[in-house]
Amino acid sequence: MLKGSKIGLRARHEDDIPTLRTELYDDVVGSARAEAGPWRPISPGSKDPRLVVDDTAQGSVAFSVVELDGGSLVGTASLWGIDNHHRSAHIGLGMLPAARGKGYGTDVVATLCHYGFVVRGLQRLQIETLADNHAMLRAAENNGFIREGVLRSSAWVLGEFLDEVLLGLLVQEWKANSQG
Ligand SMILES: CC(C)(COP(=O)(O)OP(=O)(O)OC[C@H]1O[C@@H](n2cnc3c(N)ncnc32)[C@H](O)[C@@H]1OP(=O)(O)O)[C@@H](O)C(=O)NCCC(=O)NCCS
Repeated sequence: MLKGSKIGLRARHEDDIPTLRTELYDDVVGSARAEAGPWRPISPGSKDPRLVVDDTAQGSVAFSVVELDGGSLVGTASLWGIDNHHRSAHIGLGMLPAARGKGYGTDVVATLCHYGFVVRGLQRLQIETLADNHAMLRAAENNGFIREGVLRSSAWVLGEFLDEVLLGLLVQEWKANSQG
């Protein structure tokens, strides 16, 4: 398990799946805002890749997020779009509703940065989020991510086009921040 200060990132366990499905992916509004495509229900037993992890996939790594204190499941996190030529990847995360606003998201981003920069040797990490997702923007900026641009009207979310913000962090910036 990869440990942050409050959370750990570990492999997906079979009994994480019903909780993630019910609390994250059955939420139409939350899913529509966090996912790249339209909401659709996930059947129990489905092999949907957001829930059932393919350990052999080269382009992405999925984690379950647990509290270090007690080991309870609190969310899901991933490094995706891993590009070993440009040495870049994207970060994604979703905390269970009861686990939000406790600093866990910030710690997940920090731990994913360690995974991306130290374990995988990447040079750039990137986050895209809706421009009104203030918690995600703060969790990224708390870790030194820089707003690089606005993708105007790039996300179709429940009947309207919303802007997305693109944030990036380079390994040398991350190292300088870590030493500061
Ligand atoms: C976005 C998300 C991952 C952030 O995780 P979190 O554990 O709630 O975040 P933290 O507790 O670390 O808080 C991060 C910052 O956001 C702020 N914040 C938290 N909830 C907020 C809210 N609803 N509105 C505004 N700011 C908020 C916190 O005060 C904190 O700011 P600070 O560090 O300046 O004090 C989480 O809220 C979540 O899972 N949301 C739904 C799914 C989602 O949006 N995923 C991201 C898709 S790109």
